[in-house]
Amino acid sequence: MAEDYIDLPQLLAARGTVRLPGSKSISNRVLLLAALADSDTEVRGLLQSDDTARMLDALRALGVRIEPLPDNALRVSGVAGIFPVRQADLFLGNAGTVFRPLTAVLALAVGDAGEYRLAGVPRMHERPIGDLVDGLRQLGAEISYLDRQGFPPLAIRTPRMPRMPRTPRAPGPGSAKVISLRGDVSSQFLTGLLMALPLRGVETTVEVLGELISRPYVDITLAIMARFGVPVRCDGGQRFTVPAGSAYRSPGAIEVEGDASSASYFLALGAVGGGPVRVEGVGRDSIQGDVRFADALTAMGATIAAGANWIEASAAVAGRLQGVDLDCNQIPDAAMTLATVALFAEGPTTLRNIASWRVKETDRIAAMAAELRKLGVTVDEGGDFIRVWPPAAGQSLRPAAIDTYDDHRMAMCLSLAALATPLRINDPQTVGKTFPDYFGRFAEITQPVPVVAIDGTSASGKGTVASRVAEELGWHYLDSGALYRLTALAARQAGVDWHDEAGVAAIAAALDAGFAGKVITLAGDDVGDAIRSEEISAGASLVAALPAVRAALLFRQRAFRRPPGLVADGRDMGSVVFPDSTTKVFLTASVEVRAERRHKQLIEKGIAASIAALSLDLRERDERDSRRSVSPMQRSADAELLDTTNLTIASAVAQVLDWVNKVSEAG
Ligand code: DC
Repeated sequence: MAEDYIDLPQLLAARGTVRLPGSKSISNRVLLLAALADSDTEVRGLLQSDDTARMLDALRALGVRIEPLPDNALRVSGVAGIFPVRQADLFLGNAGTVFRPLTAVLALAVGDAGEYRLAGVPRMHERPIGDLVDGLRQLGAEISYLDRQGFPPLAIRTPRMPRMPRTPRAPGPGSAKVISLRGDVSSQFLTGLLMALPLRGVETTVEVLGELISRPYVDITLAIMARFGVPVRCDGGQRFTVPAGSAYRSPGAIEVEGDASSASYFLALGAVGGGPVRVEGVGRDSIQGDVRFADALTAMGATIAAGANWIEASAAVAGRLQGVDLDCNQIPDAAMTLATVALFAEGPTTLRNIASWRVKETDRIAAMAAELRKLGVTVDEGGDFIRVWPPAAGQSLRPAAIDTYDDHRMAMCLSLAALATPLRINDPQTVGKTFPDYFGRFAEITQPVPVVAIDGTSASGKGTVASRVAEELGWHYLDSGALYRLTALAARQAGVDWHDEAGVAAIAAALDAGFAGKVITLAGDDVGDAIRSEEISAGASLVAALPAVRAALLFRQRAFRRPPGLVADGRDMGSVVFPDSTTKVFLTASVEVRAERRHKQLIEKGIAASIAALSLDLRERDERDSRRSVSPMQRSADAELLDTTNLTIASAVAQVLDWVNKVSEAG
């Protein structure tokens, strides 16, 4: 099973080029119209994602033939408006771009009588569809709600309808029709209705009541309907007429543009992370309204360049981005990205006219506010707006585990906060709805804070070497062993047995540890000496072997990775905690030399000890650290071996610094 989280290191910069996946909005519209068209259509550049898979499954279930072609293209065999399958139960997940248009198309279907049931995931059943159903009922459609009035799931009965007329019917009384539709909840209702109307064959006009939100998405619909031979007349921005005798004709082949909403994350990375970051697949010639996200970045001060098929974003010329107050009605999806760009701007950013966020994959206003607050951000929210305040000067964001609410855009938007703090994103696979490889592309163009991982045996001197290397470089230092020692001590204080895995893991998760220079505290008390006692050393080795304890401490360790860099010492720094470390060292020394060093330390502290007993103890600890099933101490293949048996501390430090410099010179 895939891990149910992804940990993002804090990032220093972003730069590079990303070829975008196909647009979700265009992909699903093209698939549906290709299926309704009179002949075959070759579709290239289609988005491969959960939402397009839902559309493909549904069309196949309705009897549409869809065949793969080379280069991920598809051939869709059009059914000329008549689905061969007249009875079907369709499961449409949480795909609004499938549910709404299919409802309309099946409700107005021609051919033999049919009966269809449309259902989705529980969240889909909370997303309103009543306005669309009301619009369709004005045309005689028979649709019933199977659960709650106004919401999916739906049952649709289509009476036997004659095939579409081949020639336009003379506009006579009773043939042309005007219907009304509310436009202020979701533009997908108008899109679905318009795409279905050519099935009627008679002139039909839709009059939009109230404000039409997200108009750019309707423009995408009109552009694609035109490509399939149906020109829609638009009068005054609120009246849309599909002419008599309209029928979808295949354009033969069609290329899907890159996804402009997906572009927003990378453009934001370029604007905040220095850039330049270029996206390929959308540009000035795009039919998608979300390309105007680039204008919003320009308004915030970012540097934007564009060509017909690309857009590029870099940092603000003036140094910092500026907060904005913006009506986002035209870019509802891409506007979400502005909520995280706001973290890097001067002054607050207010995004207005975004009531539609509340009925998307989740209530996006509430979700965004809740998750940004976990990072320590101040957020105001209202029915149709959100205001985000950047952290005050000198304050940094808090590392946190972000929930994604089964919403791909929550995962992608919040990932941008990694330019300010290490982050955990829960359920990252939700990006599969529109961008399955999002985190792969993200990693390709971002530069994380560098890590030097120094692993090795007990008392090998790695703590001393690692902390000096950190000092020399001016980087942060993580003594990961201290976390296991603190856990053992805290468990002892709480009376929890070191073998009680769940009990110790709970202690580890709630550990109130402090690291200030060389001072280590537990619940505010200096415990630097207490955690080094032989008893706690043995306890640390025991609790470190418990998988739940290691899991509980994982993100806490990763949260130490702050600019300009981190030197981390332990047993599994290079193998598990920071597998992408820029330099990995495995440090060891003979047992005899280690026992002597430890003996000297203890004597200096006035503690009696025998070298023989210390040797035995070290051997036992080495054995346990390397034999345990999770994160055993081991030298990973890409780690440099440093044997300090005959080395001074100074020369060990010099050797590590030499390796670090080689990496930065090569980079
Ligand atoms: O490095 P140290 O001696 O302070 O470590 C204390 C114990 O914690 C030791 O038994 C090994 C264990 N440990 C671990 O399992 N993984 C780490 N990354 C660091 C320490």
